[in-house]
Amino acid sequence: MGKFTAEQISELNNSLKTPDQVLKWTMENLHPKVALASSFGAEDMVLIDMLMKINDKARIFTLDTGRLNQETYNVMDEIKDKYNANIEVMFPDTREVEEMVRVNGMNLFYKSAENRKLCCGIRKVHPLNKMLTTLDGWITGLRSDQTENRSNTARLEIDEQHNSMIKVSPIIDWRWEQVWDYIKSNDIPYNKLHDQGYPSIGCEPCTRAIKPGEDLRAGRWWWERTSDKECGLHMDHGSN
Ligand code: ADX
Ligand code: SF4
Repeated sequence: MGKFTAEQISELNNSLKTPDQVLKWTMENLHPKVALASSFGAEDMVLIDMLMKINDKARIFTLDTGRLNQETYNVMDEIKDKYNANIEVMFPDTREVEEMVRVNGMNLFYKSAENRKLCCGIRKVHPLNKMLTTLDGWITGLRSDQTENRSNTARLEIDEQHNSMIKVSPIIDWRWEQVWDYIKSNDIPYNKLHDQGYPSIGCEPCTRAIKPGEDLRAGRWWWERTSDKECGLHMDHGSN
């Protein structure tokens, strides 16, 4: 059972109007049992900056799948230096990864959607679940126009997928341009992959730059044909 009822969450969604108000409420009510999940994409940079301005002890964690881009490690270091932030880096279980690549190979994700979900499960979802069991709430950089699954997400939610903890998505209603206005006007670090045509940041083998006019998530698992591309962090695939 979570700490808040559905009615309380609904009232909070009505009264907390800005990302800053949402984050202040979150820190006052859930810190230190709340943390920002960061993949170091543009949205997460905005949230890191807002959070650090509220409380520089705010917790940030990242799921290091072992397959991230060098640019992502670089911006992680920049964040540590700029804010003196302690980033909690979560790794997958060694034995699960060893078994998976022994049976399916290093590049299994290209072979089938099932393999791809297996890899995301082991490298992302299991470490996320392990982290979330220690918390009462988590903060994400989700935006509603990213995927269909995200279009109905509220700023604050009871996360049924994760033991009814509180899931906080302060910039859920922001548009991509607002994210960049914030980054530029506050002069904050960002992942240099964005300068190379990557709007969405994921794992190196599974993410590529997009062409002008393409959907912002077209570069994620680009070889898959489904419209709602999710790795399981924010949608239950039922296979984990
Ligand atoms: S994903 O489910 O498709 O991979 P996406 O890249 O859109 O997610 O990111 C949405 C939010 O999920 C991010 O703002 C962040 O809160 C969280 N997230 C995604 N990937 C990671 C990661 N590797 N580590 C921590 N949080 C992540
Ligand atoms: Fe594995 Fe690709 Fe998922 Fe990363 S995005 S965990 S490399 S399948």
